[in-house]
Amino acid sequence: MSGSSGLVGSAFCKALESQGGEALRLVRRSPNREAGEFLWNPATKECDLTGIGRLDGVIHLAGKSVADHRWNDANKKELRDSRILGSEILVDELLKLEEKPKVLISASAVGIYGNRGDELLEEGSSKGDDFLSVLCQDWEKATHKAKEGGIRVANARIGLVLSKSGGALKKMLLPFKFGLGGRLGSGKQWMSWITLDDLVRVLFFALETETLEGPFNAVAPNPRTNLQFTKDLGRVLGRPTIFPVPAFMLRLIFGEIADWLLLVSQRVDSKVLRESGFTFDSVELEDGFRKVLAK
Ligand SMILES: NC(=O)c1ccc[n+]([C@@H]2O[C@H](COP(=O)([O-])OP(=O)(O)OC[C@H]3O[C@@H](n4cnc5c(N)ncnc54)[C@H](OP(=O)(O)O)[C@@H]3O)[C@@H](O)[C@H]2O)c1
Repeated sequence: MSGSSGLVGSAFCKALESQGGEALRLVRRSPNREAGEFLWNPATKECDLTGIGRLDGVIHLAGKSVADHRWNDANKKELRDSRILGSEILVDELLKLEEKPKVLISASAVGIYGNRGDELLEEGSSKGDDFLSVLCQDWEKATHKAKEGGIRVANARIGLVLSKSGGALKKMLLPFKFGLGGRLGSGKQWMSWITLDDLVRVLFFALETETLEGPFNAVAPNPRTNLQFTKDLGRVLGRPTIFPVPAFMLRLIFGEIADWLLLVSQRVDSKVLRESGFTFDSVELEDGFRKVLAK
C-alpha cells in the first residue's frame, strides 16, 4: 500500500490487520523491513520492492493533500508529481516483479468530472478540463500500463470522505459546533460523499471482485447539495447553521481552491459499484453523519 499513513490508508490497514491480513507499506522515510515497510519516493523516483514476495493486491492512495495549501505553480507540480510520477514508478516496479499482484486499486477523485451543476455523473460521463480534472485523468492513465503485465487495474474515483478524525469534515466540525456553520456560496453545489467505513469496505470489495475493472465512482448513493449537507450536519450536531459564507470571501481566503474544492458541483452516481453488487452501510447523509460522529 502507498499512502498508508493517511486517512484512508490507515483505516484500511487497521481493518485488514484486524482480520488477520498483512499490509506491506511503501514509505518515504527509511523503511523498517521487519515491520513490512519498503522504500519509495515519487520526489526522488525511488521504489525498491526487493524481496517483497507474493502480493494479493496493491492499494495505491499516495498523493500530496490538495486542500492543505493555497495552490501555486510549485505546489500544483507537487500535487501532480506525487500522484502521476508516483503511479509511474510504482507500476514500473510492479511489472518487474517475478510474481505480479493480481490487482492494483488506485485512488482517483470525483474531481475528474469538473464543475457540472445538476448533471448526474456516471463513470462514462465526460471529464473536465480544469487543473484537478486533468490531474485525475493523468493519474488514472499512469496506472493503465499495469494492465500490460496482466494486472487488473481499478481506479476508485473517491468523493468527499467523511470521518471525524481527518479530511474535510474534521475541519468543519469546530465552526459547526460553535453554531458558526452555514452554506458555502449559493449552497446549490452538489457534494458526493462517502463515509470512511464504507470506503474501506469498497476497497476490500474492489480487491475481491474480479470483474471490477477500470474507473468506478466511490460515493454513497445519495449526494446532497451543500445547503442540504449543511442542514443535515447542523441537525445531527443540534446546532444552528445560519452563517452562510459568500463565494467571494471563500475565494479571498482560499484562492483557487475555493472554486475547485468548495464551490464545485459534482452530483455523482456510483453506477459501477451498484451494478457490481456493492451495498453501502450509509446511504443517507444524515445517517452517515450519525455513524461517523458516534465512532
Ligand atoms: N479524503 C478525501 O476526501 C478524498 C477524496 C477524493 C480523493 N482522495 C484521494 O484518496 C487518496 C487517499 O486520501 P486520504 O484522505 O487518505 O489522503 P491523506 O490523508 O492526505 O494521505 C495521503 C497519503 O499520501 C502520502 N503523501 C503525502 N504527500 C505525498 C507526496 N508529496 N508524495 C508521495 N506521497 C505523499 C502520505 O503517505 P506516506 O507519508 O505514508 O507516504 C499521506 O499519508 C489521496 O490520493 C486523495 O487525493 C481523498
